[in-house]
Amino acid sequence: MVETTLSVIKADVGSLAGHVIVPDFVMELARKCMKDGVDKKIIKDFRVVNAGDDLELIMTHHRGEGAEEVHKLAWDTFMKCTEKAREMKIYAAGQDMLSDTFSGNVKGMGPGTAEMTVEERKSEPFAVFCADKTEPGAYNLPLFKIYADPFNTAGLVIDPNLHDGFKFVVQDIEKQVPSYVELQCPEEMYDLLALIGSTGRYVIKRIFRRDGMVTASVSTDKLSHIAGKYVGKDDPVAIVRAHSGLPAMGEVLEAFTLPHLVAGWMRGSHTGPLLPVGLKDSRCTRFDGPPRIIALGLQVSNGMLVGMVDLFEDVAFDITRRRGMEVADYLRRHGPFMPHRLNEHDMEYTTLPSVMTRLEGRFTEDDGSVGKSASSKSAKKLRADSAE
Ligand code: F6R
Ligand code: MG
Ligand code: MG
Repeated sequence: MVETTLSVIKADVGSLAGHVIVPDFVMELARKCMKDGVDKKIIKDFRVVNAGDDLELIMTHHRGEGAEEVHKLAWDTFMKCTEKAREMKIYAAGQDMLSDTFSGNVKGMGPGTAEMTVEERKSEPFAVFCADKTEPGAYNLPLFKIYADPFNTAGLVIDPNLHDGFKFVVQDIEKQVPSYVELQCPEEMYDLLALIGSTGRYVIKRIFRRDGMVTASVSTDKLSHIAGKYVGKDDPVAIVRAHSGLPAMGEVLEAFTLPHLVAGWMRGSHTGPLLPVGLKDSRCTRFDGPPRIIALGLQVSNGMLVGMVDLFEDVAFDITRRRGMEVADYLRRHGPFMPHRLNEHDMEYTTLPSVMTRLEGRFTEDDGSVGKSASSKSAKKLRADSAE
């Protein structure tokens, strides 16, 4: 049986007219670098796409996950694309390239990574999801629905291969040293939900079928934790393996028919609906959003990629997009107020500490009232005046 690794590695290396799209010439350069990687036999096959301002490298190979040669190929590709973007003064060139030198693996260096190694089945259909203007926890809700909600996935009830449930590996992304917990569904569903409802902290990393077959993998790299400050949203990717004893592609995609609220959008500091869109609509323009996601349908055959279907291009998702835009429009009316604006802890940009420093000495016990028992300056003055 052929063992193939699918590596999806992404970075924002600069984008056109703000944080909007990856320019065509950057995509072309990335394809050329990937082709060199095939010629040098580092990878077997590839696809290059963009999710808004993120350059997405989808690669297949037989070197396993975390393979230095593959990660170096991706890193060098991003570096060359950054150089080109800088030469053309493309906006935010090299945004996610947080180091000058490669040190064995792109993890912790800026780019995001989702990888999965499979023993190829008779037929191997996948979906690769790439999101823009949001964070890894954006996948928690749809992945839960795909693998644990029978109202989404009919197969959980009627396909004996799915009936035993799935194991979720959840990462606490606030921990500097990676920290994971495994939870089995349906038995531990409530514990799982207690964690993954906190989308900014507990993030689904991988999912396995009860017998150990891997079926989902998510990039959980948190840029702000790597750089120690805001450098751009993580804009995560996910690989989902479908069919033949796993949720069907239609069950996988059904989970995205609710434009659920995610953190990100403008300046990584707002809540907004996640819009499922076709490749042609993968450009965040309204208030730098709303956050959106593309889905690419692929198959793997002896290490080679077959096809690429633009899965959310379907008119069946029009209603979701329309609903999402109603929600986006409603939320925008809240301007700088929560919950449209995120709480201070989750905001990627915030002037709050400097505002607090400036106002520090101006917080007093004076509430401005003038009653007898009031301790305000104005009340004391009034009492003193009437005593004279
Ligand atoms: C969010 C994002 C944008 C920028 C915003 C400000 O992930 O990329 O919303 O945060 O456009 O951009 P700068 O700080 O580059 O002016
Ligand atoms: Mg950007
Ligand atoms: Mg982006």
